Amino acid sequence: MDQICAKKLTLGYGRKDVVKAVDLTIRKGEFLSIIGPSGVGKSTLLMGINATTSILGGTLKVLGNDVGSIRHGDLKTLRSKIGVIFQGFNLVSRMSVLDNIASGMLHRKPLFSALFKHYTPRQYEELYEYMKVVGIEEEALSRCDRLSGGQKQRVAIARAIAQNPEIILADEPISSLDPVSARAVLETLRSANEKYGITVVANLHQLEYAREFCTRIIGMNNGRIIYDGPPERLCQATVDQIYSCSSRQEMQDVKNMRFPFSPSAASTA
Ligand SMILES: Nc1ncnc2c1ncn2[C@@H]1O[C@H](COP(=O)(O)OP(=O)(O)OP(=O)(O)O)[C@@H](O)[C@H]1O
Ligand SMILES: [Mg+2]
Repeated sequence: MDQICAKKLTLGYGRKDVVKAVDLTIRKGEFLSIIGPSGVGKSTLLMGINATTSILGGTLKVLGNDVGSIRHGDLKTLRSKIGVIFQGFNLVSRMSVLDNIASGMLHRKPLFSALFKHYTPRQYEELYEYMKVVGIEEEALSRCDRLSGGQKQRVAIARAIAQNPEIILADEPISSLDPVSARAVLETLRSANEKYGITVVANLHQLEYAREFCTRIIGMNNGRIIYDGPPERLCQATVDQIYSCSSRQEMQDVKNMRFPFSPSAASTA
């Protein structure tokens, strides 16, 4: 089943187009990573799927909703089905691991129990299961500001799972983590993908991890998809293309800049 379907999708800010006429279909249960150099539009594409960046052209369907014309009520429902893991974790630092994870369940809990952090035995069981999936159960009552970066990231994943989402979007979930923590976090995302059938779309800067963990890789450059396929078909020449065109573009941008002290600027002034 297709969960995400973009056709000639252009996303951007104001009138600036960042993701350019992209065609992309993602099916339920995929574990997909988006790779590419900095500034090519990976986060913009990810946040577009969560309906938080403007559609400047084309169409985008997510979980059967036409994102371009979605109504407010439907948008809330759609977002409740998408767990987002931000690079900065977005945890409430003074709250415990347990309460942070439980906040993912807010949309399916009565207001009273959400406000007073009252959990039924069934909810405790469920929360414990999520903590076990990410391996943080021993820290259940610890405050989040006392955790390491890798532990915080695992809490953020557990909170996303607690949302009972159909899709998890993870924006650079392992940046600034050491290799052991990075691997643990990716294993956790893989468990969420395999155990609950949650579709995972993750922006990654580490190609070797994308190759190892993901079933499909999207290579982006300058707002366009230039590779879409399984890790084993991604050859070095394509990797070079993904990472080098943009450098050329950046070089061109730098060359086009006029510095007050450069001879060319002086001669054209
Ligand atoms: N809120 C915003 N308003 C205006 N421009 C933005 C905004 N967010 C991002 N951009 C611009 O959009 C372009 C793509 O940014 P984006 O964050 O999607 O890149 P990225 O591929 O995720 O980069 P990185 O790997 O560094 O996270 C950049 O030129 C950036 O400056
Ligand atoms: Mg980004």
